[in-house]
Amino acid sequence: MTSVDVPVALLGYGTVGSAVNRLLVSNADEIERATGHRVRVVRALVRDPAAERDFLPDPGILTTDFRAVADDPEIRLVAEVMGGLEPAGEHVLELLRSGRSVVTANKQLVARRGGELFATASAAGVQLRFEASVCGAIPVIKVLRESLSFSRVHRVLGIVNGTTNFILTRMEHGAAYAEALAEAQRLGYAEADPTDDVSGADAAAKMAILATVAFGTRVTLDDVWYTGIEEIAPLHMRAARELDMAVRLVGAATLVDGRYDVRVQPAFVDRHHPLAGVEGPFNAVMLQGDAIREIMLEGPGAGGLETASAVVSDMISVIGTTGTGFLQNDACWRELERLPHGDVVSPFYVHLEVDDRPGVLADVARRLAAHEVSVARLVQHETGEGTAALHIVLHECRSGALGTALAEIAQLPETRQRPTALPVISDRGVPGLGWA
Ligand SMILES: NC(=O)c1ccc[n+]([C@@H]2O[C@H](COP(=O)([O-])OP(=O)(O)OC[C@H]3O[C@@H](n4cnc5c(N)ncnc54)[C@H](OP(=O)(O)O)[C@@H]3O)[C@@H](O)[C@H]2O)c1
Repeated sequence: MTSVDVPVALLGYGTVGSAVNRLLVSNADEIERATGHRVRVVRALVRDPAAERDFLPDPGILTTDFRAVADDPEIRLVAEVMGGLEPAGEHVLELLRSGRSVVTANKQLVARRGGELFATASAAGVQLRFEASVCGAIPVIKVLRESLSFSRVHRVLGIVNGTTNFILTRMEHGAAYAEALAEAQRLGYAEADPTDDVSGADAAAKMAILATVAFGTRVTLDDVWYTGIEEIAPLHMRAARELDMAVRLVGAATLVDGRYDVRVQPAFVDRHHPLAGVEGPFNAVMLQGDAIREIMLEGPGAGGLETASAVVSDMISVIGTTGTGFLQNDACWRELERLPHGDVVSPFYVHLEVDDRPGVLADVARRLAAHEVSVARLVQHETGEGTAALHIVLHECRSGALGTALAEIAQLPETRQRPTALPVISDRGVPGLGWA
């Protein structure tokens, strides 16, 4: 086999960038065997060339000048692993316009500006790949775009943020929220500023990308409704345990009658559901479709080497498919409408704090029934001082109807605290759980 040298560039040489170079160097023979090409990093853009690096590049590779990448006609393929919206966005656009294929790990960029980036790549006849932007080492984009391209996937459920999954798993074992977050930061699973993770924003960007690819319609970050885990308290963990469930931050993308809904929120997951078994910093994505029924992919969702593995895999795909026309285009081929927010149907868990006296339960049940919301199961805890905590599992209902019923219940004189509702996820259905 004749080997051809492929010079590539990296925008960024930090945790992921240095791991990409490490993988390209240490697996050069395997890559050459698979593609017939010897891939070499010839330029890497950084802010400070003197900074300490995990894996040192050859002398002269690091540069602070983007022109050294953009103006080098030898470089046909670039991996963007610098992060942030700018200057990464403008750099990627310029590279695509000038006929370079780009591989990116940047979920915020793809989730916010995917339309513009793909249109530019398409017009220039080059590829833009983004496996590393979702779930680290898990090859879910490739599975959706290649293996399942004809499969009519109608639901994607995912635990796509390792930081929050680690925190929730620790809370399940008795830690308080602040304690679990501090431990995540100590172990390097959470940033010093964890806002993006705990607020659900990071998971929302990943779900926007997954929904776009799964449903073939552009879903941006603004189209995803999300809440985080900041308000999850030990009482939720206790209630979940008693109901034989686990609390997880779940991203759910659903296609209903040609309209889509994408949301991220803490959910009560039935212990028998595979997502309940995803523990610590791991990620998992469950794909449901007509012919495939259900496929679950699970693995490390972050980490330098794990993410770099997805970047390198995309680079190999670009090299292996350039010129063949295979999978070079944007995943979007249609424009679907968003499902109105309240139209999503699910079973729910509801937490109420009410006066502990006769008639209160009946009053609550009446308000729910008035909006066609019915109770499947109820657990009551005495909280002292004449109040009771009600943990209620509801049969499937419209989330809008439940919202209206809970707004009315919040106004009742016997209600002591704003009611909260979380979706319940179970593949057995509420009757299957013996709650009918
Ligand atoms: N780390 C992970 O586990 C992980 C997982 C999934 C996805 N990602 C994504 O991968 C990307 C990279 O993450 P990372 O953890 O490798 O970040 P990082 O360690 O902070 O590295 C960023 C690199 O980009 C360079 N850089 C940043 N801004 C620059 C600018 N304006 N001009 C020139 N160079 C600039 C930095 O230069 P200096 O080195 O000189 O500072 C550094 O080399 C991000 O989009 C991130 O969301 C990371």
